[in-house]
Amino acid sequence: MLIRTLRGWEIPERLATPEALMLGRRAALAGAATLGLAAPAHAQFGGLFSSAPARPEQPRKLMPAQRNEKFVGGRVITEERQAITYNNFYEFSMSKSLVGAAQALVVDPWSVEITGLCAKPQKIGLEDLLKKMPVEERVYRHRCVETWAMTVPWVGFPLAKLVEMAEPKPEAKYVVFTTLADKATMPGLGQRFYPWPYTEGLTMDEARNDLAFMVVGMYGKSLPPQNGAPLRVALPWKYGFKSAKSIVKVEFSAKRPMSFWEGLQDSEYGFWANVNPAVPHPRWSQATETLLGSDERVPTKIWNGYGEFVADMYKDLSKEKLYM
Ligand code: MTE
Repeated sequence: MLIRTLRGWEIPERLATPEALMLGRRAALAGAATLGLAAPAHAQFGGLFSSAPARPEQPRKLMPAQRNEKFVGGRVITEERQAITYNNFYEFSMSKSLVGAAQALVVDPWSVEITGLCAKPQKIGLEDLLKKMPVEERVYRHRCVETWAMTVPWVGFPLAKLVEMAEPKPEAKYVVFTTLADKATMPGLGQRFYPWPYTEGLTMDEARNDLAFMVVGMYGKSLPPQNGAPLRVALPWKYGFKSAKSIVKVEFSAKRPMSFWEGLQDSEYGFWANVNPAVPHPRWSQATETLLGSDERVPTKIWNGYGEFVADMYKDLSKEKLYM
């Protein structure tokens, strides 16, 4: 009961009016003009967990990269301001307006531990990792399980390249992402019923898929803290909660990991979480989505429209709950 009351982002708009109003959520969804209203909402509430003051936004480094035209958004790119001010990052707040709280994230220096069933385990600094990776820009659609969506130019490198560098052993069946859990800067960690740290996972096939992308920037600049700086993953055919932010560990495992939301409520969130408009969430429809910065609801597509890249991976897995 406690969990249900507090998990704001899982509650459909029509059932969540009081919370939504309190968090400035409708205002944020309604468009550029109303984002100005969302900011005072944040200043007022500072996120539900947060005693953290709103901090000034950190400057972002330029990160220009060649766009890979193989990956096109297929719709208008979301205005940058929308994508960087309407966020889910529970470590900082349940509110969507967590920009101020997230500025506490210390992103430099940052290193990633590559570990588990691989021949080349290592702890590598982000700068060194980037020197080894082919950095490019890709425009991806992002579909949150809450039914909002955006289209974003991400800067990053294929997860497949990181996998290749690590040389996984044949026994490795899954890649597990663990994200930062720093009590000093992340007030959300005080909510102990959440299974911190935020953990997510993929099969090896999924991790090697062309679309799986490790992200270090957006809109030609480094990732802002609220979007998962300095390293997150983008998996555009899956619901957004699979795209773990602020990753500190990548582990190769023989065992399927229990991911954050699955650990909290496995009747509603599973391991696969592939987008499918025909499979409703137990508490709301997934048939349509609202594009950030617009009131428009558009039909959701299976695999979020990326079937040509990913559908083959699942053809022998019909017994799995692929869409939750
Ligand atoms: N990663 C961490 N560490 N913590 C989170 O709360 N939220 C997820 C995902 N990754 C989350 C996370 C959810 S529910 C979504 S929809 C996306 O991040 C949101 O990414 P965005 O804020 O960049 O739009």
